[in-house]
Amino acid sequence: MKVILYMGTTPNGYIAKENGDSEWVSDEDLNGFYEESKKAKNIILGKNTFLEASRQGYFPFPGAVNIVVTHQTFENKWGRDVVFTDKKPKEILSMVEEMGFDTALLAGGGMLNASFAQEGLIDEIYLDIEPLLFGKGIRLFGETDFACELELIEAKNLNKNTVQLHYKVV
Ligand SMILES: NC(=O)c1ccc[n+]([C@@H]2O[C@H](COP(=O)([O-])OP(=O)(O)OC[C@H]3O[C@@H](n4cnc5c(N)ncnc54)[C@H](OP(=O)(O)O)[C@@H]3O)[C@@H](O)[C@H]2O)c1
Repeated sequence: MKVILYMGTTPNGYIAKENGDSEWVSDEDLNGFYEESKKAKNIILGKNTFLEASRQGYFPFPGAVNIVVTHQTFENKWGRDVVFTDKKPKEILSMVEEMGFDTALLAGGGMLNASFAQEGLIDEIYLDIEPLLFGKGIRLFGETDFACELELIEAKNLNKNTVQLHYKVV
């Protein structure tokens, strides 16, 4: 099972403003995410990301099973393409494998990313670096401490001001 993390971020590592706003990511970032989600056919997202994507009208993401990780109970209005689970990261990956997929796409936010990173479960990372700075907000991996080394697979421009870094986790 390969686990890919795909995130739009500021150069200083924020994925959302303090109020949860991440609407500043570029269309190219969104399109890149959609492409990866259609390839993997599944995405895993934390509750806050689910709520924010619902608020913005992006939920559920099309062409993929949307797996929302939460301890809360939500009514599933969408059917079998949406799954709510309170499983732990490794159990979620087993579930994704049982669904018949060989790749899992992590879609944030920071807390969910951190829980997978802490267990060394992430294999590849796409970071779309957006041309915007702010000093407070939600970080790529929340406030959680962990460390890993990266190998650069590719760096490319997505548009004039957005750079995509594609890493392998060593
Ligand atoms: N820029 C981007 O590309 C991008 C992408 C995605 C998200 N975002 C932004 O990120 C923000 C949300 O990030 P966030 O860090 O606040 O929250 P999050 O990771 O989306 O959600 C965290 C919540 O998910 C639940 N959860 C259950 N199991 C978990 C586990 N193993 N690990 C982590 N969380 C688990 C917990 O809620 P319960 O209490 O229900 O268990 C937890 O409070 C949003 O504002 C969104 O817009 C940005």
